[in-house]
Amino acid sequence: MGVSLEGESVILVPYMKEHVPNYHQWMKDPALLFATGSEPLTLDQEFDMQLSWTQDPLTSSLVCWMSKKDCRMRMLSAAMLRDKKERQGYEMDNDIVGCHKPPVMEMARFTSLLMLRVVIHDGYFSERTFIVLDKQMIDGEFLHGQPHVEAMVGDVNIYMNDPEDPQFAEIEIMIAEPKSRGKGLGKEAVVMMMAFAIENLGIHTFRAKIGESNQASLILFHKLGFQDSSFSEIFKEWTLEFPVTESKGDDLQHCVSKMIIHS
Ligand SMILES: CC(C)(COP(=O)(O)OP(=O)(O)OC[C@H]1O[C@@H](n2cnc3c(N)ncnc32)[C@H](O)[C@@H]1OP(=O)(O)O)[C@@H](O)C(=O)NCCC(=O)NCCS
Repeated sequence: MGVSLEGESVILVPYMKEHVPNYHQWMKDPALLFATGSEPLTLDQEFDMQLSWTQDPLTSSLVCWMSKKDCRMRMLSAAMLRDKKERQGYEMDNDIVGCHKPPVMEMARFTSLLMLRVVIHDGYFSERTFIVLDKQMIDGEFLHGQPHVEAMVGDVNIYMNDPEDPQFAEIEIMIAEPKSRGKGLGKEAVVMMMAFAIENLGIHTFRAKIGESNQASLILFHKLGFQDSSFSEIFKEWTLEFPVTESKGDDLQHCVSKMIIHS
């Protein structure tokens, strides 16, 4: 069991199998899929994903599922795919291989969903995912190790996917429940994740990729001090960056000075 992080309004807990059905339900919403640049997964794939996130990514080959927008990256272990005979049904696409970093990655087009399958052979990729709980929605007391499905409202992720710089992290936030938006939960979850990642993973730069029409997310990240870095005409999305200077790191730690780490 990983750690849980308790802030003022949210608690970040590890993604557990009990969360999967609700998560899968959220990701059927076309608006959420669009906002997060995601492709739908089957319930089985979502369970596999959750399982793979509980395993140490540095010990085995991994398979990532990513949308073409490279926004929502998902991992499955190669072993699990082999077991499920899901290796069948892909066609190699050399153009896509050429876009990335061969021979580390072997990529293929997932024919039906237009997703990319990426096999990372030497395991430099790692990630951290937390489910966001709204503290006000928790039945009774928060218990570390319990999924508290009744209070889950979204998730926050970081991906360390730069083979040359494992301390460079891409961050994503989703407050999936519409009634839970606009209450400061997204912002607090991002700040807590960043503070945790700086302290525990030594992250020195964060990056966020956000569609140009996603004003809520652009405002959130700009308010946190992320700066526009580039714009992709193809994907119509901004890349924002946040280099962790000493003073910015101190500011973040100050914001979460009351954060409780449950382990
Ligand atoms: C974008 C998203 C994460 C924002 O989370 P949230 O919990 O609703 O945002 P918060 O309440 O923490 O707001 C953070 C700041 O952004 C501002 N903000 C949030 N939503 C806004 C909106 N729709 N319009 C204008 N400002 C907005 C808030 O005013 C707040 O500013 P403040 O710190 O000065 O008070 C949430 O709307 C969401 O998950 N949407 C769908 C999925 C998505 O778009 N994910 C991001 C993919 S890149």
